[in-house]
Amino acid sequence: MKKMSATGLLKLRPNVVKSFFRTYKASGIPELTQVRHNVKRGNYATLEGKDIAFFESIVGKNHLVQDDLQGYNVDFMRSVRGSSQLVLRPSSTQEVSAILKYCNERKLAVCPQGGNTGLVGGSVPVCDEIVLSLARLDKILHIDEITGIAACEAGCILENLDLKARELGLVVPLDLGAKSSCHIGGNVSTNAGGLRVLRYGNLHGSVLGVEAVLANGDVLDLMSDFKKDNTGYHLKHLFIGSEGTLGVVTKVSMLCAPQSQAQHVAFLGLSSFDDVLKTFRDSRQFLGEILSSCELIDANSLDASVNHFKLNSPIEGYPFYMLIETSGSNAEHDMEKFNRFLENGMEKGQIIDGTITGEVGKMQEIWKLRELVPVALIEDGFCFKYDISLPLREFYHIVEVMQERVGNLATRVCGYGHLGDSNLHLNICCQEFTQEIYKCIEPFVYEYTSQVKGSISAEHGIGFLKKNYLKYSKSPAAISKMRELKQLLDPNSILNPYKVLN
Ligand code: FAD
Ligand code: MLT
Ligand code: ZN
Repeated sequence: MKKMSATGLLKLRPNVVKSFFRTYKASGIPELTQVRHNVKRGNYATLEGKDIAFFESIVGKNHLVQDDLQGYNVDFMRSVRGSSQLVLRPSSTQEVSAILKYCNERKLAVCPQGGNTGLVGGSVPVCDEIVLSLARLDKILHIDEITGIAACEAGCILENLDLKARELGLVVPLDLGAKSSCHIGGNVSTNAGGLRVLRYGNLHGSVLGVEAVLANGDVLDLMSDFKKDNTGYHLKHLFIGSEGTLGVVTKVSMLCAPQSQAQHVAFLGLSSFDDVLKTFRDSRQFLGEILSSCELIDANSLDASVNHFKLNSPIEGYPFYMLIETSGSNAEHDMEKFNRFLENGMEKGQIIDGTITGEVGKMQEIWKLRELVPVALIEDGFCFKYDISLPLREFYHIVEVMQERVGNLATRVCGYGHLGDSNLHLNICCQEFTQEIYKCIEPFVYEYTSQVKGSISAEHGIGFLKKNYLKYSKSPAAISKMRELKQLLDPNSILNPYKVLN
């Protein structure tokens, strides 16, 4: 049996993902969304001097931004651009409430914004909506080391809450590549998934309560410090994943998990997707309850992060790579289990090569290979990004289908993602956006997904970019009920218009 090696690992600083994220600057400005997608502005009021005077009386002069708004108008992927003339930065629920009450009465449209790391064009205005930034509501309210319950304001950065939780031996049950920028309120509003849904489930399970401000300014206090509360309708779920279209989340309480005592990460090379599936099946059998992440990276994806960030991959030359992580309580026992799993995979010829480590620095270096893929892909020029749930047997086929379909129109077609959750990230990169490649990909990719009974959005949401395709994953009856809910909670449709629903 070939011996696993832990050598040849990367030699980067552990916080490279974070530091890159913070210094990342958009170098290309996309065409205005209204122009590219031919959007007719809704029947909303336009800003007047009296509006500015009112908002200034609420947030103060320093937190009403009218200049240099590109960072608020353009999304992380540089795929959409709004033309907002005003950003408001309230510091409390009461200020959010006063702003929304006024906007509702005046029929001024509003785009709630967290860390602006969203990937479906939901976080920036489509036309001239006022941007409501939650960045100043950033307080951690409490973390209880006995119960594991944490509460914070919506603008708290995910990584900040996690670091504080770790001081008490806890972890936030959500982790994603954008953790140093995204907000808890943004995470809840998108029902973000991330790297450990396999272990902790999604936010519908971990979020215990929310406080949300409705379009008319009413504050809905649904905060709770209990896992169990069956008192009527579970309204908090309306705000988890509704992408700022039903209310503005201002506070969140969630259940943190105990920090694991032992962690291991393996990075494996495989020669076929069939072997990937068998290795996933075996990882569940051999690793059981200590399995905490199972990610797939294909060769084109790894090539992007390795070459763009000058990383060294511990292994190379395979069509598929898997990153498998365990989190348990006894390093020795966990390592034994991991070794048995790896030996079995290598004996059967499913795993060709790999590396395993329990050293923190080395684990972080392996994770970087995976977490930096989406960031590296932007450097290819323009990236069409699809985040789909697919039956595992169909999981990778769409990547090959799209490679064939787009041919030379693309510079890179790749697939990576949360294999353990049946969630593929299909990315198609090209030098620049053109209608030709756009039409070659869409709606085909959604039709395909629907035919195999997948979901057109596994974790990123619908936002602006996917709203025309909602019908591929939801029945007409379900869409009609969604519209009724929207009408009930936001009758003037001022909250994040042009998003989620047509
Ligand atoms: P924003 O991008 O600002 O907003 C997202 C949506 O939520 C918008 O519709 C916005 O209007 C709304 N919103 C924001 N805050 C509020 C609020 N307080 N109240 C009401 N509505 C609000 N996502 C995943 O699911 N899994 C991943 O693994 C993952 N990895 C990523 C890696 C990278 C490198 C990047 C750039 C993004 C990744 N994302 C991932 C997408 C993104 O980070 C998540 O969707 C995140 O939850 C968005 O949080 P945010 O604070 O940036 O929200
Ligand atoms: C990820 O898993 O890396 C994110 O969801 C971002 C992406 O899809 O590229
Ligand atoms: Zn993801």
